[in-house]
Amino acid sequence: MNRISVKMNVDGTTYEGEVEPRLLLVHYLRDRLNLTCTTVGCDTGNCGACTVDLDGVSVKSCLVLAVQADGGEVTTAQGLARDGECHPLQRSFHEQHALQCGYCTPGMIMAARDLLRHHPDPGPREVRHALAGNLCRCTGYQNIVKAVLAAASDGEGAASTRRGGAQ
Ligand code: FES
Ligand code: FES
Repeated sequence: MNRISVKMNVDGTTYEGEVEPRLLLVHYLRDRLNLTCTTVGCDTGNCGACTVDLDGVSVKSCLVLAVQADGGEVTTAQGLARDGECHPLQRSFHEQHALQCGYCTPGMIMAARDLLRHHPDPGPREVRHALAGNLCRCTGYQNIVKAVLAAASDGEGAASTRRGGAQ
């Protein structure tokens, strides 16, 4: 099969390589770049585990081909920490016990980050609506909602807006 050159920045590092046109972005991240924080729960766009940011837009990376991300900038949950410090949403998920097995957590955090970037001060209903595309088998969602609200009330939403989502 033909292979196509792709070049993209992922979590601040530029990667180049050749891929089959059918390769999904999530598999490129995990299998080619070994960035395994982004998980695969379904491969069909249902669970949200694979959520990443592509050029400022939240996407399910199992619904995007790697070639579609060519020239783009991808941020994964793996790239959110800075200088060994957890991102505020990561910290909040930890403090609010918003995870059990953790499989859904990277996608939850990326979806929550996208929400706070656009709505710095959401209410519980907005959080639930924003996370409706992200499934969790473990937590019952209550603590996930609490974690996002806590991060928002700590100012993470406003900070995300100021940063333009760069972090
Ligand atoms: S793995 Fe992408 S939505 Fe489930
Ligand atoms: S914490 Fe296990 S699936 Fe969400």
